[in-house]
Amino acid sequence: MNPIPFNKPFMTGRELWYIAQAHTNGHLSGDGQFTKQCHAWFEQHTGTRRALLTHSCTAALEMAALLAEVQAGDEVIMPSYTFVSTANAFVMRGAVPVFVDIRPDTLNIDETKIEAAITPRTKVILPVHYAGVACEMDTIMDIARRHQLIVVEDAAQGILSTYKGRALGTIGHMGTYSFHETKNIVAGEGGALLVNDPVFAERAEIIREKGTNRGQFFRGQVDKYTWVDIGSSYLPGEVIAAFLWAQLQEADSIIAGRLAIWDHYHAALAPLEAAGQLRRPVVPDGCRHNAHMYYILLESLEQRSAVIASLKAQGVHSVFHYVPLHSAPAGLKHGRVDGPLPHTDQLSDRLLRLPLWSGLEAHQQRVIDALHTALAQHPAQR
Ligand SMILES: Cc1ncc(COP(=O)(O)O)c(C=O)c1O
Repeated sequence: MNPIPFNKPFMTGRELWYIAQAHTNGHLSGDGQFTKQCHAWFEQHTGTRRALLTHSCTAALEMAALLAEVQAGDEVIMPSYTFVSTANAFVMRGAVPVFVDIRPDTLNIDETKIEAAITPRTKVILPVHYAGVACEMDTIMDIARRHQLIVVEDAAQGILSTYKGRALGTIGHMGTYSFHETKNIVAGEGGALLVNDPVFAERAEIIREKGTNRGQFFRGQVDKYTWVDIGSSYLPGEVIAAFLWAQLQEADSIIAGRLAIWDHYHAALAPLEAAGQLRRPVVPDGCRHNAHMYYILLESLEQRSAVIASLKAQGVHSVFHYVPLHSAPAGLKHGRVDGPLPHTDQLSDRLLRLPLWSGLEAHQQRVIDALHTALAQHPAQR
């Protein structure tokens, strides 16, 4: 039997057709017809004021750090349980990540720990919507308002998820998406910055275009384009945008298909949770998620390692992530923790991600059966 991979990027079949059109159009650099169509799609489907495609979510986070004007020594409050780019983008500007603990239910930043971590140097709060399930944004936005802080949502995993009806990435001052091939909607490598506060819109465009006012020039707003600010080249070429356009057109059905797989895992694993063998993900009321990930929480690091090995022996590839940033070498060097992080330390050792990709339906029962076998071989000891 063929092994079941952890991830398999889904392609709609129209990607090459649109890439051929980009080729025929003869416009291969950024901000051509396909990029504009993608921008309009994001603006219509999420309600953001201004969407800008980038090379990656990492690039979008770097733009957010530039736009927030963080200076050396400024502090950015974030979870430690996240991908390196959340911190790196700000550390590159000299900022200090201040890591707070996560909630044990959603594994998102614990909003009740944020206020105590604020100092006179705090500039940004950076919630990460883990697994496409929203952070408690009402509380976070209220804290930000009272302390005059900027909120950048790392919604790398959160496309088309909502919090109380609002798209993730559109609630803070800025938000970021990823279209890396492991995400729901892919472009190989790709991302977007959502500029929700109009204060940042003009400068965002300039920073993305090497610090020039090229966008204004093309709109006829200035008669020549020139170097006006710092910046870099954050825009992808049209081939990437053409690929992404094919995906966006099917985004709703891709996510509906993933949700069916997620729901099937959730129902099938309920008896194991009831028997105390694992814990399933929690999606709070008011949060609509996008089935980015199906994870389970096991009892210990030892049990997780044994279960991964057993699944592998049965031809099922499962993975874990992240090594918490506060205890990683660069986190120790560049960041600091605020308070103890017991949930981060414990849950990161116990989390296991099961395969979830469009087309898994036909093989999903094998994954579930393999997990039953693995847990029978290596049961929880409690
Ligand atoms: C939470 C989070 N932030 C940022 C990123 C970086 O995304 P990209 O690979 O598009 O740069 C990822 C990617 O896995 C992520 O999961």
